[in-house]
Amino acid sequence: MDSTAPQDEQDATHGSTPSSDDLPRPAAVVVLAAGQGTRMRSATPKVLHRLAGRSMLGHAMTAARELDPAHLAVVVRHERDQVAAAARALEETAVVVDQDEIPGTGRAVQCALDALDARAHAAVAARLAETGDAGSDLGDGLQGSVVVLAGDIPLLDGAALGELLAAHHADGNAVTILTTELDDATGYGRIVREQGTGDVVAIVEHADATAEQRQIREINSSVYVFDAAVLRRGLGGLAADNAQGEVYLTDVVASARAEGGTVRALLSDDPMLVEGVNDRLALATLGAELNRRILADWMRAGVTVVDPATTWVDADVELAQDVTLLPGTQLHGATRVESGATIGPDTTLTDVEVGADATVARTHGSLSVIGDGATVGPFAYLRPNTRLGERGKIGAFVETKNSEIGAGSKVPHLSYVGDATIGEQSNIGAASVTVNYDGVHKHRTVIGSHARTGADNMFVAPVTVGDGAYTAAGSIITRDVPAGALGVSRSQQKNVDGWVERRRPGSAAAEAAARASSDGAVKDGLGAQAKRELAEHNALTGNVPGDVASPQSSESA
Ligand code: UD1
Ligand code: CA
Repeated sequence: MDSTAPQDEQDATHGSTPSSDDLPRPAAVVVLAAGQGTRMRSATPKVLHRLAGRSMLGHAMTAARELDPAHLAVVVRHERDQVAAAARALEETAVVVDQDEIPGTGRAVQCALDALDARAHAAVAARLAETGDAGSDLGDGLQGSVVVLAGDIPLLDGAALGELLAAHHADGNAVTILTTELDDATGYGRIVREQGTGDVVAIVEHADATAEQRQIREINSSVYVFDAAVLRRGLGGLAADNAQGEVYLTDVVASARAEGGTVRALLSDDPMLVEGVNDRLALATLGAELNRRILADWMRAGVTVVDPATTWVDADVELAQDVTLLPGTQLHGATRVESGATIGPDTTLTDVEVGADATVARTHGSLSVIGDGATVGPFAYLRPNTRLGERGKIGAFVETKNSEIGAGSKVPHLSYVGDATIGEQSNIGAASVTVNYDGVHKHRTVIGSHARTGADNMFVAPVTVGDGAYTAAGSIITRDVPAGALGVSRSQQKNVDGWVERRRPGSAAAEAAARASSDGAVKDGLGAQAKRELAEHNALTGNVPGDVASPQSSESA
């Protein structure tokens, strides 16, 4: 323990774990998102970089929302339109505040507080107007506690914010700061504590710190709770007389103490929880850590994760009990998997719903629904709006898009199904294509229930194959096939006898042909026992023997 962080302070600030019910509602949460984030070296603003399927701003606003603040403000400046739009998309009631050209975290919060105070005044004025009162006293503006957090702390969650808020109220503090201890605190603001009480005297930025202060390992995480009035008075007196020429929010600590307020720190023993992202190395490190934590939570909830090192699950994914995730699985966005389903290996699903007991192997899919007990893959590609019914099948090397494949229907091999509706219990032959695009418009293929379509069919849409209909292998189906009919569309086969010996004399093919006509039959090379086993296998599986010399041709008659 650092000498500036005595044990008694720990006990004073670590209250019992709060439940959100008995926590006072903060007047506001202010998310700081105006900075440029130069070290990301990116055209994308830092807070919009993503991990676990959410932007850092998304993580901050999700954590903030758990406190149920009266106002959720986001301060923007760098790439303001992009960041403002993202903030509004995440929370339509968010108050987007523009920071002016004066730099620094103190200025950012000042801009936010001004905007929130203006809203509070407007609300009072409206109330006074309603009651007919002559509006004389509009009050000071926002009252209560204001939570401030940097928008680049992705692992920070609502529970950590709740603990900080609880400590703030339990101790009756003017300011409460979330801190942690780092082995290398270079670049961070250092927490200077008072000997004896352990109260925080000041936060000194690295650039402004003395050699002695730089020895301090306890750092400011940029997450705070302020009393609104203390914050307002403190910000009013701030100047940019420091090494970076910025208005420091951290200077409010000194002003709060000067007016007799108590400033305390809640020391977290989980540095990753409060660590900010400044570059893409930290983005990857914290991204991996967040993933580990998400997987650990799911494993505790009854999900089998065979290889956590190669499994990635976004923060908003939902998994039921007894889901199994095999190595190389990535579940993104709003993907939801029901109980008993097995995903992977090597499967990436984005916004896909997977039904109970389904299996999805070596598949890439998005915005699709897979029914209970269905099987997908290996090597399937589910493009948006694929809907596979209960116990249906999308098999090997099959691509689907904007199609409904009904309960029990199968597309087992090497096919493209786009803009199609397939009924129930139908089977689509291997290597079939719904020809959906005429170069200008997309058209639908409709195939009924209990249909059996042959291998290598082209369904030139718009076209309909009725219930119980069959189509012949190799057919190009350009006209509707009525229910129960057989659709055939291919030229008749013609054999020209003796063509090879006449036209390719002396070739290996010609010699083989000559031998065949003298021997009568081709040797199959299988021994007697193997022949019997193959015959049994064929009888069990209903396989049609592909060998003219198979024992079945003589024995099964
Ligand atoms: C800040 C703290 C430092 C702390 C560190 C933790 C100050 C003066 N220093 O330093 O004590 O250890 O965070 O990471 O507060 N921002 C704005 N407007 C601005 C400047 C920044 O909104 O004018 C936002 C940024 O977008 C970011 C957050 O404030 O989300 C922190 O800014 P950053 O530049 O990273 O502050 P640090 O110098 O790292
Ligand atoms: Ca920072």
